[in-house]
Amino acid sequence: MKNILVTGGAGYIGSHMVLELVNKGYTPVILDNFSNSTRQNIFTIEKITGAKLEVVEWDLKTPLDSIKLPKIDCIVHFGALKAVGESVEKPIEYYRNNVTGSINLISYAKKKEIKNIVFSSTAAVYGNPPTKQVNEDTPTNPVSPYAFSKLVIERVLNDSSLAYGLNVVVFRYFNVAGNVENGLIGDTQLTCQNLIPSIILSHLGIRKTELNVYGNDYPTRDGTGVRDYIHVLDLIDAHIRAIDFLEENAGFHQFNLGTGKGFSVLEIINKFEEISKQKVKYKVVERRPGDISQITTDSSKALKTLGWKAKRDLCEMIESSYKWYKSNFIY
Ligand code: UD1
Repeated sequence: MKNILVTGGAGYIGSHMVLELVNKGYTPVILDNFSNSTRQNIFTIEKITGAKLEVVEWDLKTPLDSIKLPKIDCIVHFGALKAVGESVEKPIEYYRNNVTGSINLISYAKKKEIKNIVFSSTAAVYGNPPTKQVNEDTPTNPVSPYAFSKLVIERVLNDSSLAYGLNVVVFRYFNVAGNVENGLIGDTQLTCQNLIPSIILSHLGIRKTELNVYGNDYPTRDGTGVRDYIHVLDLIDAHIRAIDFLEENAGFHQFNLGTGKGFSVLEIINKFEEISKQKVKYKVVERRPGDISQITTDSSKALKTLGWKAKRDLCEMIESSYKWYKSNFIY
């Protein structure tokens, strides 16, 4: 039975990983500072699975010298600040949290001879790409401090792989959305700035402000930003494969995770209207600082190497997300 350290394990993506690890017979060890999460997902996973989860409250900005953890076989590193717009306003906080936090974690891995790390990076490292569809060879050009902080960590991991023999899988996520089908776990914070949660939060009246569409003058088919949305459960499937892959494959490996299909902001709003059978109110405002125009990815490297392909569609992302917010925040 493998022990997997999951940083950010109480958060939106981390908690989906923890649930799947338990379902697959691994033992997750959750490390979280609860700055953007609560214990709700942990309690729910314990209730659904009957597992008793090990949870360590720790802020990665503090070196891990005195931390008490069981023997770890692999680290899955989700814990980070992740709002593009906020990172433009608070760059030092983002670099300190994301870069310093990761260096502390990698130092711990080196000291404890934990050889395998799976790291959450982002499509945002490509910035405004020269082509609509990117792949792992597309040059990086991060626009926001958030994106740059992730690229710096990728580099630290690559150098550490060469110097210390660390085995690394870096996943560059495109736009992660959706929840487990029963809507039982998810983002427990209502401050999420991502598009699909923002549509739902405003529509349900949980967020008191109207939905903003950030710019309709981008060079795209309808002027709004185009992204490649990927279901969180497909993303988690890739992480489970990566844990096994690293057992057999040394070195540094990088993969883009997306579906290859692009949807504009207005197309996402339309799809939500179709699913909810209700009109969405929104207003078009200025572009959000740090945002790019459009991006989708070719994920054939992940298919070839990990046997991974996204299986779920946009409807499943919106429906499960809607279910999460309706069943947890509407009383
Ligand atoms: C980016 C990254 C993603 C990363 C995420 C972290 C890219 C392609 N993707 O997502 O890998 O994990 O940050 O947060 O860089 N929008 C609105 N109104 C809203 C919210 C968003 O119009 O209230 C628009 C944005 O301007 C953008 C699109 O919706 O065009 C998607 O935005 P969002 O969901 O926040 O994700 P990204 O910033 O693209």
